[in-house]
Amino acid sequence: MSNIKKVAVIGTGVIGTGWIIRCLAHNKIVNAFDKDLKLKTSLITEIKRTWPYVKKLFNKKNLNLKNLKYFTSIGEALKDADFIQECATENYTLKTNLISSIGKYSKKNAIIASSSSGLLPTRIYSKCKNPKRGLIGHPFNPVYLLPAVEIVPGKKTSMKFVNKAKKFYKSISMSPIILENELPGYLSDRLQEALWREGLHIINEGFATTKDLDRAIEDGPGLRWSLMGTFLTFHLAGGKSGMKHMLEQFGPALKLPWTKLKAPKLSKRLVKRLVEGTKKQSKGKSVEKISNIRDQYLVELQKLRKKYEKKLR
Ligand SMILES: NC(=O)c1ccc[n+]([C@@H]2O[C@H](COP(=O)([O-])OP(=O)(O)OC[C@H]3O[C@@H](n4cnc5c(N)ncnc54)[C@H](O)[C@@H]3O)[C@@H](O)[C@H]2O)c1
Repeated sequence: MSNIKKVAVIGTGVIGTGWIIRCLAHNKIVNAFDKDLKLKTSLITEIKRTWPYVKKLFNKKNLNLKNLKYFTSIGEALKDADFIQECATENYTLKTNLISSIGKYSKKNAIIASSSSGLLPTRIYSKCKNPKRGLIGHPFNPVYLLPAVEIVPGKKTSMKFVNKAKKFYKSISMSPIILENELPGYLSDRLQEALWREGLHIINEGFATTKDLDRAIEDGPGLRWSLMGTFLTFHLAGGKSGMKHMLEQFGPALKLPWTKLKAPKLSKRLVKRLVEGTKKQSKGKSVEKISNIRDQYLVELQKLRKKYEKKLR
């Protein structure tokens, strides 16, 4: 069990807000800070929007908003926190400098976890006091509903802190994936990025719209992926001999020049296709409305998934 009770969340945009909601749902005391002080209002609105889903997923009765404190100074927010989740904008210089300040203002052994989606921890903790306690805790959006978190240590991170972080994340109902060594993009975003880059090429070259590509995932691979990943899925695609036959049959296709991987330039035309394409797909529904549909679905899906994943793992 984790004995961490007080968490500081630095940066309260999309991801910081998600962490705050998840921590509050698990009775943690949360100190929040963002350099944009106006975000306090949107945080409260988002907590209220998401609570019905969070409550249902974690079988909770009440939300204690008294456990949330929004600070106007980073030093005050960090002072007594045992665990710090950094959620500021993705940028090497910004995060390195911010983490250096976090190191100065926080308790010496407070764990610092960055939500970064792919930056190398050794680099962003390079100016941090006591970098042994610095690591990546990469979540997935919406953090308040999805269990995955990748823990990535840097070259100076101590296993003691990795283990403490693992316990903490488990105490807020997450399923940590621990990487032994850092690599750019970590695991999930390496995979997501490859798919995303390929999609951008197909749209750029005019072969499909954003809607066509989303349907290509939603009705096929996406349905399977919520239970099992690509490797186990392909093992089944090989029939009775599993992966062995799958590789014999489809291995040669790996040599065909299908995929491009290097991203296309985000030209004005491509940006227009992406923005207009997704606007059309939204059919006039606001981001908030679509988020409500997604959140309700994710709660029900995870309840169903629990039943089936037990049989596989
Ligand atoms: N959006 C996603 O799907 C997603 C998923 C996983 C991880 N992440 C990671 O989470 C982090 C935050 O992403 P986001 O999507 O929430 O971005 P966001 O733009 O919604 O929020 C970033 C927030 O950081 C604040 N900020 C910037 N500099 C700051 C500073 N010096 N001190 C305090 N606050 C500061 C900004 O005011 C802003 O509110 C990034 O590292 C990103 O890679 C994002």
